[in-house]
Amino acid sequence: MQPIKASSYEIVFNTSGYEALNTFIRISTYSKIFIIVDSNTHEHCLSTLLSKLETSTAIEVIEIVPGEENKTITTCSGVWDALADLDADRKGLVINLGGGVVTDLGGFVASTFKRGMDFINIPTSLLAMVDASVGGKTGVDLGNLKNLIGVINNPKLVLIDTGFLATLPKIEMRSGLAEMYKHGLIADQGYWQQLSDLTAMTTENLNKLIHDSIVIKNEVVLKDPTEQNIRKTLNYGHTLGHAIESYCLSHAELKTLLHGEAIAIGMILESYISSKLTGLPQIDLDQINTVLSEMYDAVRFTQKDINHIIELLKHDKKNSNGKVKFVLLEHIGKGVIDQEVPNELIYEAFDFYATPIN
Ligand code: GLY
Repeated sequence: MQPIKASSYEIVFNTSGYEALNTFIRISTYSKIFIIVDSNTHEHCLSTLLSKLETSTAIEVIEIVPGEENKTITTCSGVWDALADLDADRKGLVINLGGGVVTDLGGFVASTFKRGMDFINIPTSLLAMVDASVGGKTGVDLGNLKNLIGVINNPKLVLIDTGFLATLPKIEMRSGLAEMYKHGLIADQGYWQQLSDLTAMTTENLNKLIHDSIVIKNEVVLKDPTEQNIRKTLNYGHTLGHAIESYCLSHAELKTLLHGEAIAIGMILESYISSKLTGLPQIDLDQINTVLSEMYDAVRFTQKDINHIIELLKHDKKNSNGKVKFVLLEHIGKGVIDQEVPNELIYEAFDFYATPIN
């Protein structure tokens, strides 16, 4: 797969990606390399990376506890302590080897330790490959509020090794797929159509779909790296999706949803709202609802849940002047930003979501 050029770095793939990684490290003369893993990537991915790294630079491994609930400043503090104990200086390199929690948190730790160390992302989950590791967003959650603390700072390189997906649980694959659907819905109708029928999927097809998903995201980020306008479209499904994810995280009686599962629900709800406010054709709404409802289990929300989810919207990062701003769709392949939505329509969208498809 061809490398993809981002603003100041490249996204490289598989065998040639490891060659690019080794070349980059050779010419950069880092004082030490710090690989951040969680216990899963320590067990399943670290030996692969170490076997491919060709360097005489000293390597240290820092392990964090896996899971979104550990994407916190407390975990960052532990990693900052470890870096200090291991005598990290600003000429050190951090390599984040893991899913979105590791790449978001590791990027933030590296960006802030001694006012900034270089970092490289090697995403190991589908979600991190197609979304989290690309575009420079780094950060952690604040309590149950997603990604409230962070900075935008680009990695020096992103290496996608699709071989890591072989050990990824199916539920995690589905979670990552949600961001790929999103890329089609906001920017590329043809890409969405390819994703809407995955029955004949092969590894080769999947690699191509991953590559194309990153191309779509990268094109959006290149136009608007600091999210002043078009990059906001990448938040499609995330206004309600994040609120649902946060709410489920803090309510033990509700199943904890993976990020992509929550975003899929958000995309169905926001498609319904789009059909009422921004002209999304009924045929597009029906297709989105059918494809996403087939891929993701339905979640039942009570009236009380919905009230609390709507209350959480006030923390959304896209809000301005106290107003909640949604990304909606004009049609499949065209997102539109900064849309205000009356609460009644959000309640209606939850009714639509709860209605079985005939
Ligand atoms: N995950 C959305 C973005 O990077 O802008």
